[in-house]
Amino acid sequence: MNEAREPAMSAEEMLRLRAELEAANRKLTEAYKLMSLGRLVSGIVHEINTPIGSILSNNEVTTRSLEKLAQFLGEAQQRGTPPPAKALEIVETVRGLAAVDKIACERISGIIRGLKTYARVDEADLRKVDLHEVIRDTLKLSGCEYRRRVAVETDFGDIPLVECYPQLMSQVLLNLLVNAGQAIEGEGKIVVRTRNEDGWVRISISDNGRGIQPEHRARIFAPGFTTKPVGIGTGLGLAITREIVVDTHKGEIGFESEVGAGTTFHVRIPVEHPGSGRP
Ligand SMILES: Nc1ncnc2c1ncn2[C@@H]1O[C@H](COP(=O)(O)OP(=O)(O)OP(=O)(O)O)[C@@H](O)[C@H]1O
Ligand SMILES: [Mg+2]
Repeated sequence: MNEAREPAMSAEEMLRLRAELEAANRKLTEAYKLMSLGRLVSGIVHEINTPIGSILSNNEVTTRSLEKLAQFLGEAQQRGTPPPAKALEIVETVRGLAAVDKIACERISGIIRGLKTYARVDEADLRKVDLHEVIRDTLKLSGCEYRRRVAVETDFGDIPLVECYPQLMSQVLLNLLVNAGQAIEGEGKIVVRTRNEDGWVRISISDNGRGIQPEHRARIFAPGFTTKPVGIGTGLGLAITREIVVDTHKGEIGFESEVGAGTTFHVRIPVEHPGSGRP
């Protein structure tokens, strides 16, 4: 006969284990997503970098050749055999176009450099980093979303190198910047500030967008919470951001918001990572 036995685990314990399992699962999914995104971006960066490099070097040759051509035409003119006026005009037009192409290519290269920081999976290790460099690179990336309508200002303080995971910090900044850009309807402004706070560094990202409704404020860090239409928001941005700041870097994240006036997110990171194994 079977005896009635005490359950091996209390309902409370089971619930706690289940919550832990779900949290671990969520972390794994996020890590996997980051990793595959990193690989995808690395591949794209590589594929774009090579052709851009050849366009840029061809552009240099073209510009030099045009200068030579202009010089030959000038010399011919001095010798009393003026070239057709149209020839000089064409040289000038092509020179102008080549100069614009150079600027365009440099802009693409700048974005690619930004992507490289973002995708540098092999540099995902903990190290001392100039956060201003990470911010600049991430701004280049986020600028693609709203460059024309949103002005971005930086107000950088005198901060020390910070021991952190630069690729993850870039992810934090990107999430906050994209949210700020998406909160602004039409034209607006984003300000990125950094401050040294005695053993900590604070990064603040302010926008003058629509603000966060009071009834949403307690939920914005919850995974899956979004007020954006399907296809735009997954509601994961701030959940991942909070996890990277608080769990991975032992930092703090908070915000201030006024409906109709704007929002500021504050991220505080310890200058020395508490888990870096120092005595
Ligand atoms: N700067 C901001 N201004 C106004 N609302 C914001 C701002 N940042 C976040 N929110 C609010 O918080 C919600 C959650 O943000 P979160 O980044 O987690 O998800 P999402 O932006 O909606 O989607 P995802 O980031 O996954 O694309 C947003 O839907 C928005 O309502
Ligand atoms: Mg978001």
